[in-house]
Amino acid sequence: MPMSKILVTGGAGYIGSHTCVELLQAGHAVVVLDNLINSSSVALERVRSLVPGAQLGFHRIDLCDAQAVEQVFAVEQPNAVLHFAGLKAVGESVTIPLRYYRTNVFGTQVLLEIMQRHNCKRLVFSSSATVYGNPERVPLTESSPLSATNPYGRSKLFIEDMCRDVAISESGWSIILLRYFNPVGAHRSGLIGEDPAGIPNNLSPYLLQVASGKRESLTVFGNDYPTPDGTGVRDYIHVVDLAQGHLAALSKLSAVNGCCAVNLGTGTGTSVLQMVAALSRVVGRPLAHRFAARRPGDIATCYADPTHAATFLGWRAHLDLDAMCADGWRWQQQNPNGYRTA
Ligand code: NAD
Ligand code: UD1
Repeated sequence: MPMSKILVTGGAGYIGSHTCVELLQAGHAVVVLDNLINSSSVALERVRSLVPGAQLGFHRIDLCDAQAVEQVFAVEQPNAVLHFAGLKAVGESVTIPLRYYRTNVFGTQVLLEIMQRHNCKRLVFSSSATVYGNPERVPLTESSPLSATNPYGRSKLFIEDMCRDVAISESGWSIILLRYFNPVGAHRSGLIGEDPAGIPNNLSPYLLQVASGKRESLTVFGNDYPTPDGTGVRDYIHVVDLAQGHLAALSKLSAVNGCCAVNLGTGTGTSVLQMVAALSRVVGRPLAHRFAARRPGDIATCYADPTHAATFLGWRAHLDLDAMCADGWRWQQQNPNGYRTA
């Protein structure tokens, strides 16, 4: 696609910051909108240092503040929007559901209304494999049944519906819903990566903190699943592959008339124990872990059928589990306390 100005909501976050690097390297001008509720402006400084001379603007505002978002559109006049901003912790969404619905669902409504007013109708949205709920069959294709088991998942389903509805209601919209599987790893430079606040909920950041000595041992949630080694199986995807998937989606937007969904995964399932073994190899010593009961709400197995991404977007993941572990470990070692290390 011709170079253009892209608005990236949530661009200071984990996936957003990696995507900004890819966008800038491809020659796009990028404007980030983020309230930094779960991120740091250091991430954006690092993005700038990775692509010197590139055009990266930043507005520290809340997506739910319609006036402020309106102002950003008036000033920046973006050609397309990559929408990452939102809250993403499943457990927390059960405790404070209204905050999740406000940030994720209302925030997206505000964004869509303003996009409509400014006739900016090209959108790529960060959906999740969580919209497949507890799958009956794997691999998951885009037409697998949708369901949700928690407020976070429901917020993603509502947003997907809202996008489909708006695209049906009037012509001119081009929306791609990207359903990410499990993003892990970090930029090869070790300068940007995942920086969870407090105790990590997800496997990869927790395991990296065990490797760095910050946590004693990984608790493996369940070894009695109907999987080859009894532990949960997921489709881990390198965050840089994921970021490149956004570039592919952006290039394809002009061919989309309405709204469609695309899985971004590798198509390969990896168990918790396989992940422990892979990171142990990279770190060069065994990583402590112990088995405990299943985590409520967890599913046994989840991995993508990535065929549609390959045929429709011309994209597929290239980086393997070793690269995910090596790059995640480099980030962890260089930034033991995340961006606070800086
Ligand atoms: P992240 O928390 O690192 O990034 C989200 C960004 O949005 C943060 O920088 C945060 O400060 C910002 N934000 C939150 N609320 C905001 C608001 N009201 N106004 C402005 N900015 C706000 O998360 P991430 O891992 O980069 O995820 C990005 C998107 O991808 C999210 O929508 C998430 O639900 C989705 N997703 C993530 C995963 C994952 O495992 N990381 C998997 C599937 C889908
Ligand atoms: C979680 C979310 C899901 C979201 C996804 C994004 C939950 C219940 N689900 O999925 O909605 O879309 O992140 O990446 O939070 N594990 C351990 N010990 C740990 C942490 C995890 O054994 O300390 C296991 C889990 O049981 C699971 C696997 O590791 O089998 C991956 O877990 P996690 O990284 O939290 O991702 P998901 O559960 O797939």
